[in-house]
Amino acid sequence: MTQIFSPVADTWLRLFLLGSAAVLVGGTVGIIGFARSAYITSTEVRPAQPVPFSHRHHAGELGIDCRYCHSGVETGPQAGLPPTETCMTCHSEIWTNSTMLAPVRQSLASNTPIQWTRVAKLPDYVFFRHDVHIAKGVGCVSCHGRIDKMALTYRENSFTMDFCLDCHRDPVPQLRPQDRIADMTWKPSADARAAGAAIAAHEGVRLGELTHCYVCHR
Ligand code: HEC
Ligand code: HEC
Ligand code: HEC
Ligand code: HEC
Ligand code: HEC
Repeated sequence: MTQIFSPVADTWLRLFLLGSAAVLVGGTVGIIGFARSAYITSTEVRPAQPVPFSHRHHAGELGIDCRYCHSGVETGPQAGLPPTETCMTCHSEIWTNSTMLAPVRQSLASNTPIQWTRVAKLPDYVFFRHDVHIAKGVGCVSCHGRIDKMALTYRENSFTMDFCLDCHRDPVPQLRPQDRIADMTWKPSADARAAGAAIAAHEGVRLGELTHCYVCHR
């Protein structure tokens, strides 16, 4: 059977339906307000995890680089979650008998990945890639907040369309040097705009084009 709608048309159809539903209900403002509340965007929620993994401990105190565990972040759309082997490079030596780590040992023994509960997720009609952002000088902290201070991981920023557009309208002051991408504490120099403009020019950032709908909906 031939496809009636291309995947792209399907995305647009769904966006259209979502948009018209909002208008039909009439309470567009109310809906937007509701959609932005922490309730639905769940910025405060620290979901229970199979293992109480702490970024504060591992990324903050121990200073392990984000990319050691999220190794896809520079090379593909997804950052990825670490395989159990990554935990075991240390935990076959440290805290080997801890009950807290029992699910990690079990995962390794049974060769089944740990089932983490995701906290940062976009609806599937939104297109996103990590690698482009990293390559153009957008740091992890700009989107994920101070992960290195989180005992249990939560979503610091809700990924609303406005959140993305705020930066896409004017990314320049938010750009940073490549060697500071994963640095949670780096602050731009006094003239963030001038420094960012130099990075934007060097990396060829397509300023003025990043708010077009097709950038994120395709
Ligand atoms: C580079 C080494 C290293 C890696 C990799 C590592 N850990 Fe740890 N982890 C540690 C150290 C060191 C401690 C702290 C022991 C202590 O408290 O003195 C620790 C402690 C823990 C604890 C105890 C609670 C806490 O935070 O104090 C848990 C749970 C844990 N790790 C889970 C994990 C998981 C899950 C992974 C894989 C995603 C992982 N670790 C990867 C070094 C590592
Ligand atoms: C030792 C390995 C390790 C290091 C280092 C690490 N992470 Fe993680 N990260 C994990 C694990 C395991 C999870 C899944 C459990 C959780 O959400 O806490 C995770 C989850 C996340 C999530 C939530 C993803 C989702 O949708 O649920 C984000 C965002 C994240 N990490 C960002 C970072 C950043 C930024 C850094 C560097 C400051 C970092 N991580 C360093 C292991 C690590
Ligand atoms: C421009 C914003 C942005 C930047 C910069 C960014 N992320 Fe993400 N991250 C997201 C979004 C949006 C998602 C959810 C993606 C989805 O649901 O498809 C996400 C998801 C994740 C996840 C969950 C697993 C996955 O791959 O989807 C991890 C882990 C993560 N990010 C780590 C990082 C790390 C580490 C860095 C820095 C090296 C980083 N992110 C930089 C926006 C960003
Ligand atoms: C802090 C700034 C910032 C934030 C926040 C941000 N972006 Fe971006 N985004 C950029 C920059 C810079 C580029 C690179 C533009 C270029 O390549 O010219 C980019 C590029 C993109 C691209 C183009 C990728 C490609 O292959 O062409 C997509 C898609 C995208 N962003 C989606 C998103 C989504 C979805 C969000 C919200 C979850 C988001 N961005 C949040 C700065 C940001
Ligand atoms: C920089 C990325 C980005 C761009 C550009 C963008 N969007 Fe979105 N859009 C999003 C994200 C992220 C969401 C999901 C919001 C959520 O989950 O709350 C979204 C959601 C939507 C929705 C669903 C309803 C809603 O408001 O949540 C519609 C409709 C929509 N976008 C239409 C558009 C149109 C039309 C354009 C062009 C004028 C556009 N978008 C440009 C990122 C973007």
